[in-house]
Amino acid sequence: MTNDEPVFLAACRGKPVSHMPVWVMRQAGRYLPEYRAVRAKVGFTELTRSPELACEVTLQPIRRFALDASIIFSDIMVPIEGMGVALEYAPGPVIAEPVRTLKQVEALRPIVPERDVPFVMEAIKLTRAGLPKHVPLIGFAGSPFTLFSYLVAGKPSKEFSVPRAFAQAEPEISARLMEKLADAMIVYLKAQANAGAQALMLFESWGGLLGPNDYARIALPPVKRIIDGLKDVGVPLIYFANQCGGNLASIATLNADVIGLDWRTSLGAARKVLGPGKAVQGNLDPAHLFSSPENLKKRVDEVLADAGPGPGHIFNLGHGIWPETDPDSVARLVDYVHERTRA
Ligand code: CP3
Repeated sequence: MTNDEPVFLAACRGKPVSHMPVWVMRQAGRYLPEYRAVRAKVGFTELTRSPELACEVTLQPIRRFALDASIIFSDIMVPIEGMGVALEYAPGPVIAEPVRTLKQVEALRPIVPERDVPFVMEAIKLTRAGLPKHVPLIGFAGSPFTLFSYLVAGKPSKEFSVPRAFAQAEPEISARLMEKLADAMIVYLKAQANAGAQALMLFESWGGLLGPNDYARIALPPVKRIIDGLKDVGVPLIYFANQCGGNLASIATLNADVIGLDWRTSLGAARKVLGPGKAVQGNLDPAHLFSSPENLKKRVDEVLADAGPGPGHIFNLGHGIWPETDPDSVARLVDYVHERTRA
């Protein structure tokens, strides 16, 4: 590999790097005044459908901070709209007619990205053209269980009791829905890679609500289907496994390159279960961006000490940055991770 391979991509492959890469989940978002200025003029849906504006907000955090990766501005529900489901953001996704029958599942249209969500691929092309070479662009999708949770619940929820009960009451309809979502996400993620996404990330935001047996039985198989379906794409695959510390043994069986973890899971302990072939990403508590500059450094040191030495760690938060965060705190985080890990 050449020396100019971006550190983010090298770290995804577990290779040694000149400094630890760092990026922030939801780095394009409401904590940035320049993002709020765009949102004052256009709604969220319009923003996701405009390649120029999506490109602009994707680049905003890259201009401000020395980030090592960029993630295309969109939402996990964008391809769901492309499959024919009407929804609104308030600010989380709200679906007027939740999907709860086999008929509704069968009526979901298999996605044709170029027809149903062409603006995503256009945004990726524009953004790639605007990014410096050392900052790769990540494409993404929601995991089938996470998408299933929103589709069945019809709105955001803390416990997602409706979809969890539905998965028990209607296991066959649920499995069919998640299989259909998996197949759609394979096609959608491939289209993003073809358009220029240099890594692909799957967000398992809600699979951690399941116990380990249900996780292995319900959430994991469609994720495996996606990851296996993408094996010829050739870009690193990242699986963000929110609150899945109890599911690491199953997650270790996936062919993902990187496992993203939240702050409730020890990176060091996770690495032992995941084995040497998988890189980890995470896992600073977003709350720590509210600590003093001095304490923030200590919290970063704790994450680094927990993860242990050796390559294959991408620094990130353990979940999305909060809208109330001071952007200066993000600048301090990024600069300190670099300073502390420079070889
Ligand atoms: O910078 C980035 O990370 C890229 C953009 C991005 C958004 N959503 C923009 C967004 C990404 C990667 C997502 C993923 C996403 N969307 C997930 C997985 C990650 C996670 O948080 O667990 C989920 C579960 C969703 C569904 C969703 N969309 C929710 C729950 C919300 C409300 C979020 C909130 O913070 O209130 C949205 C809307 C949304 N998606 C916003 C943003 C910036 C807020 C929208 C606004 O500007 O009003």
